[in-house]
Amino acid sequence: MAGHKCEAEHASHLDGRLRRFMAPPDALIGRFAPLPAEIWAEIGAGTGFFAIPLAARVERVHALDLSDTMLELLRRKMEDKQVDNVEAAISEESTLPLPESSVDAVLLAFVLHEVDQPEKFLAEVSRITRPGGRLCIIEFTSSCSFGPPKDMRMTSEQIDVLAAAAGYEMSRSWEWQRRLLGWKYFEVAGREYRKSS
Ligand SMILES: C[S@@+](CC[C@H](N)C(=O)[O-])C[C@H]1O[C@@H](n2cnc3c(N)ncnc32)[C@H](O)[C@@H]1O
Repeated sequence: MAGHKCEAEHASHLDGRLRRFMAPPDALIGRFAPLPAEIWAEIGAGTGFFAIPLAARVERVHALDLSDTMLELLRRKMEDKQVDNVEAAISEESTLPLPESSVDAVLLAFVLHEVDQPEKFLAEVSRITRPGGRLCIIEFTSSCSFGPPKDMRMTSEQIDVLAAAAGYEMSRSWEWQRRLLGWKYFEVAGREYRKSS
């Protein structure tokens, strides 16, 4: 089922209050410790749920997405919030409109499970990442009650294998959970890799 895309009609869920409570974007981004002088790319940026708060922490963010509609919503949000260091651009499935080694870090938030050919896609992500730069991935865990159907999700082990094949070494991982009366109803996993220098 890989390759099933989050369609633009679901954009309002991406920006909903429930999502913001369960997965507060600034707190999740903070786990990757972005630095003020860094240039980031978020691929599959959607409506900018992560790209816009990320832009407040770094020099510049390239927000790329396959969907014109998503990018239009993102641009509107940039205008509302007067954000001028996000460059929103359309990208193709595994072709990114950025030069080789042009970014310090790439964020893939809830997108890798949607990609048609993850090996090809990550090779292209690696092309735009500078040597020593980072790849930061957030995905739903298999036990999370929210998110895509379980057969669409990727395990951390699968992601590690794909990242290694694209030239990244594991550097750290974390989990983010929400619980109610002991019941873990929301859980995402963050994984951070470094590209070999
Ligand atoms: C589930 S949404 C997540 C959006 C955003 N990262 C967030 O967490 O709010 C996935 C987004 O990835 C985009 N997408 C899927 N495959 C892509 C690809 N190969 N390249 C770029 N964008 C892609 C979709 O159009 C959609 O906007």
